Amino acid sequence: MNLSVLFVMVMLYTMCFQVLKTQQLQVGFYRTNCSNAESIVRQEVERAFFFDDKGIAAGLIRLHFHDCFVRGCDGSVLIDSTPNNVAEKDSPANGISLRGLDVIDRAKARLEAACRGVVSCADILAFAARDSTEITKGIGWPVPAGRRDGRVSLAAETVALPPPTFNVTQSTQAFANKGLSQKDMVILLGAHTVGRSHCTSFSKRLYNFSPTTSQDPSLDPFFAWFLKSQCPLDGQGNIDPNSVVQMNRSPNLQDNSYYADISAHRVVLTSDETLNSNSQTLSLVNEYASNNTKWLIDFAGAMVKMSKIGVLTGTAGEIRSNCRVINP
Ligand code: HEM
Repeated sequence: MNLSVLFVMVMLYTMCFQVLKTQQLQVGFYRTNCSNAESIVRQEVERAFFFDDKGIAAGLIRLHFHDCFVRGCDGSVLIDSTPNNVAEKDSPANGISLRGLDVIDRAKARLEAACRGVVSCADILAFAARDSTEITKGIGWPVPAGRRDGRVSLAAETVALPPPTFNVTQSTQAFANKGLSQKDMVILLGAHTVGRSHCTSFSKRLYNFSPTTSQDPSLDPFFAWFLKSQCPLDGQGNIDPNSVVQMNRSPNLQDNSYYADISAHRVVLTSDETLNSNSQTLSLVNEYASNNTKWLIDFAGAMVKMSKIGVLTGTAGEIRSNCRVINP
């Protein structure tokens, strides 16, 4: 091989590498063009958490998950419906259960004032999920950034989100569809150590389980009694659609108590309870129940993995100027 061929090959390799590099997410992505980006998001998350509602942290972590599982982490969960389109946020899987949208709006408004057209809504969600984890005493992570925003949001596509009625095989498949392992799933489900659930997400387990038994036999009986007291039926046999219960005893604290709750059959969702029914997931549940630090570290790693699902980078998509509206 002569020298000029070698030179061209080296040049091509370098160019390819640079293209690849620019297409990948990078920690500190906004360092040069919007150096306060991460601190502005952080301030808005802290303001909401400390002065408004502690449950916002759980809401923001879930929002990032719901963004990433539908069309990738592209901010599509934030887009409002229009007369011609029902968006993801108005699907039954999201609807009244989403929290934290206004925190994203406030962060975005400040970011547009500070550095117009630079910081994507998808990245704001990723930063806010990390900040929410730290603020609830979890372990944070450097957020790889550079996501761009999608221009499509369809309620019908939220079928990619596993419902709370899924068994372990079905949930594992839903995560595999997004390139995540069963172990990633068990780790990420630990997010259910914070936040709340609407009674309607699990009421079938209390009142209408099967033709032969009204109550799910896998539920701890005392816990079932407690849940019924929080989610009573009205005179017509209906549950108030706005009634909620905490996910566990410490809904604003990232800790491994969720895993102990699973072993004790004191988790509200079928999809959580069902981790008991598979030897691999059960052994992970036991491992994380006995080692809080390991779970906190592994959770940070799994969140980074989740945050890379189907991202748009480079010149794909856009930087929305209002997270609720696709740019004209
Ligand atoms: C099989 C997978 C999953 C299912 C079936 C599931 C289902 C649910 C349901 C039904 C709720 C209650 C919503 C409500 O009624 O208000 C909920 C809440 C929540 N989920 Fe999940 N989830 C799953 C995975 C995840 C993952 C991977 C994360 C994050 C990494 C996550 C984070 C949360 C958080 C933080 C809440 C509390 C939200 C709040 O308080 O506003 N979930 N989940």
